[in-house]
Amino acid sequence: REKGKIAASIMCSGFDQVMDYVHEFERNNIEFLHVDVMDGTFVPNLAYGPDFVKRLRKKTDITLDCHLMVDRAEDKLDWFDFQPGEHVSLHYEGTCHIQKCLDYLAKKGVKPVIAINPGTPIQVLEEIADYIAGVLVLHVNPGFAGQKIVPHTIEKAARIRKYLDDLGHPEVYIESDGNITCENAAKLYKNGSDIFVAGTSSIFREGDIDELIMNLRKAIGW
Ligand code: DX5
Ligand code: ZN
Repeated sequence: REKGKIAASIMCSGFDQVMDYVHEFERNNIEFLHVDVMDGTFVPNLAYGPDFVKRLRKKTDITLDCHLMVDRAEDKLDWFDFQPGEHVSLHYEGTCHIQKCLDYLAKKGVKPVIAINPGTPIQVLEEIADYIAGVLVLHVNPGFAGQKIVPHTIEKAARIRKYLDDLGHPEVYIESDGNITCENAAKLYKNGSDIFVAGTSSIFREGDIDELIMNLRKAIGW
């Protein structure tokens, strides 16, 4: 089993400390920067938009992992100028044209990822498993940092792993987002999650950043 990877949730860094955190993450070889994009309708909050994403991309070599929490993603995908190799997650619940959107990303060389909310059944993956690189499992109802995990989603990750394997897609990865404490991360790693969104529950808190990162890594197979 491969070691788990970290996607650091840049929304948790505070607007004045974004680049300080990015430099710490570069120094620690963090694998991804998780960038939350919110439109105020799909989720009851606003977060980063296209200009921020374009600027951040110029400032770091860490791979971006953009989480689009928007309605009608099909109208918005070309706003971001997504680059080959980047990861982009789209919500199943946010568009009637999910296959078209995933196909659009794949043609650009972007890794298409499907995001599913806690209440969305895993069976929706059946028709799109051929078109995705990963599944972003929401462990909270998205929109805000600092929420408590929806308990059944810990075991949901294991069901998703088995479901993807049974569909013939062992290569499709699982990423876990929302209230990823070290304790939850350890359970989710055991249940098959591969990438862990690190927010206020793990690395964005009081303490030595190298140590906070190391503690999370210890929970995910390092
Ligand atoms: C989902 C966001 C949040 C957040 C994660 O919309 O990705 O889940 O950044 O951080 P915490 O640890 O605060 O849930
Ligand atoms: Zn997110």
